[in-house]
Amino acid sequence: MQKITIHGKQKLSGTITISGAKNSAVALIPAAVLCDEKTTIFNVPNISDTNALIEILTFLGAKVNFENEKMVIDSSNIENKEIPEEISNKLRASYYFMAALLGKYKKVEMHFPGGCSIGARPIDQTLKAFKILGAKIVEEKDKYTITADELIGGNVYLDMPSVGATINTILAATKAKGTTVIENAAKEPEVVNVAIFLNNMGAKITGAGTSEIRITGVNKLHSCIHEVIPDRIEAGTYMIAGALLGDKLKIENVIPEHVEALTLKLKDIGVNIEEGTDYFIISRPDKFKVVNIKTLGYPGFATDLQQPITTLLTQCEGVSNIEETIYENRFQNVAYLNKMGADISVYKDIATIKGPTKLHGCEVAATDLRAGACLVLAGLIADGTTTITNVEHLLRGYEKIIQKLTNVGAKIELN
Ligand code: EPU
Repeated sequence: MQKITIHGKQKLSGTITISGAKNSAVALIPAAVLCDEKTTIFNVPNISDTNALIEILTFLGAKVNFENEKMVIDSSNIENKEIPEEISNKLRASYYFMAALLGKYKKVEMHFPGGCSIGARPIDQTLKAFKILGAKIVEEKDKYTITADELIGGNVYLDMPSVGATINTILAATKAKGTTVIENAAKEPEVVNVAIFLNNMGAKITGAGTSEIRITGVNKLHSCIHEVIPDRIEAGTYMIAGALLGDKLKIENVIPEHVEALTLKLKDIGVNIEEGTDYFIISRPDKFKVVNIKTLGYPGFATDLQQPITTLLTQCEGVSNIEETIYENRFQNVAYLNKMGADISVYKDIATIKGPTKLHGCEVAATDLRAGACLVLAGLIADGTTTITNVEHLLRGYEKIIQKLTNVGAKIELN
């Protein structure tokens, strides 16, 4: 099992270039299955989640070439067969194959998807959308057999603006007959990126980025070239690193609008931020002021940055509260921050952080991806040496994290 070791308290300066977004790439790769020709996707991050999706594509018989962040996928001759559970349970995004295969072949056999254990994460909204489009679903233990004579557009109201259910409904509806309308759709940039990709292939999707998306089905999708958007969560994580230790730390290849909720909070905390068209330059202030945070769907404060920003809140003067409204179990990082010297209590969905507290290095575990990011940030500001175990969770989502942080002055190793 791999570990990360950090010798804390090094200033960070220089430039970190943000990679392509994990949560966009992991939807685009399964979406490529719908294409009847070759697709080329640039800026794909080389992380274990994208590699797990290549494993599924290859298992299905697609031809995939992935080099220098360029992925070429030829899914014109794939065989629609049951995806083994040991591959699909490696990540949440495997369930985009459910929708893409159903949309293309009107049949799919797959197990419940994997992903970080941060809550129950049901897939009821996706299954509801499939049924509205005319699919029949047989569920046996954790395996789903989903079939349709034909898929016909319908009105899908999502009970919550779920990213996964929105993308799955788009994928299933792209080749359906007639028009599908998604109400209360997720507005995340990753949803927009998928819609643009499909439209580049010839799909007819409007409204992505708003809460009402309309998809008019088409018969054929042709070859196209597309690019993954920059990872707003990776960018946010390094912006927080800049707030904690930055000496003019530059974070480049970002879309500032995608991280606006974070930027505004950092400014409220007192962090020095210079904003360019596609970069930020961030320096640590003398003092950190307290703020309260509530996670929400986009454009609200991203739940994926809730754990990373907790490390920063341990350095703020006074009491801050974080309310997590998306997942029921996303505070597993708190016990480890407290082990490092933080003063955080959790009651229901609110964490209360008293600061500032000195953090000291010790052995901690990355229970999930963003908990891992939180602990890396904690290790960077702690006295002494921090050892993080279970880092495979972290490596699922942050491309070249060791190299990127080392280049700007951190003392961090993967052993
Ligand atoms: N939900 C349901 N039923 C559904 C779908 C969702 O109850 O059918 C609930 C979930 O249980 C959760 C909430 O709705 O409480 C939001 O779930 P959503 O479907 O939006 O999340 P997701 O699509 O499973 C994606 C990202 C997550 C990110 C959320 C933000 C991917 C692969 N994952 O998850 O990313 O937190 O959107 O809403 O895109 C991460 O990167 O660390 C991560 C967990």
